[in-house]
Amino acid sequence: MSAKRFLPLLLLGAALSACNRTPPAPTPEEAARLAPADPHLAALYVNTCKACHATPGTGAPLVHDHAQWDPRWKQGEEVLLTHVIEGYRAMPAGGQCAACTPKDYLGLIRFMADREEKP
Ligand code: HEC
Repeated sequence: MSAKRFLPLLLLGAALSACNRTPPAPTPEEAARLAPADPHLAALYVNTCKACHATPGTGAPLVHDHAQWDPRWKQGEEVLLTHVIEGYRAMPAGGQCAACTPKDYLGLIRFMADREEKP
């Protein structure tokens, strides 16, 4: 096969491997700077979830770290919401957020898992 006929295959392979690549985890500094775009969610996040979820070594999946969040995201949002409300292993029930509604939790989960709808 000539190189010319190979090229589309090579390009296809490159495109596919780019899709499968997990984005790199944020550095601790980047993680510390992240916050939800919505001001209401941002205020809740900064006072609660952030203490654990932006601090490497707490055992909490790090904000925007796809390697840590993607397997958890696969459980589905309903399961994740239940785990937040009821607690899950080292995750405290309610995430130490007395003011959070279920809708807030879903927004916070989506933000931390980097699944917010992008414009
Ligand atoms: C005191 C520390 C702490 C706080 C505060 C905290 N988390 Fe967590 N969270 C954890 C830890 C630790 C885990 C990992 C639990 C495990 O899998 O062992 C976790 C896991 C999770 C998970 C994944 C659960 C699963 O099924 O895999 C979600 C979702 C989550 N937290 C959401 C939140 C939200 C939303 C907030 C804020 C409202 C929050 N957390 C606040 C420590 C915390």
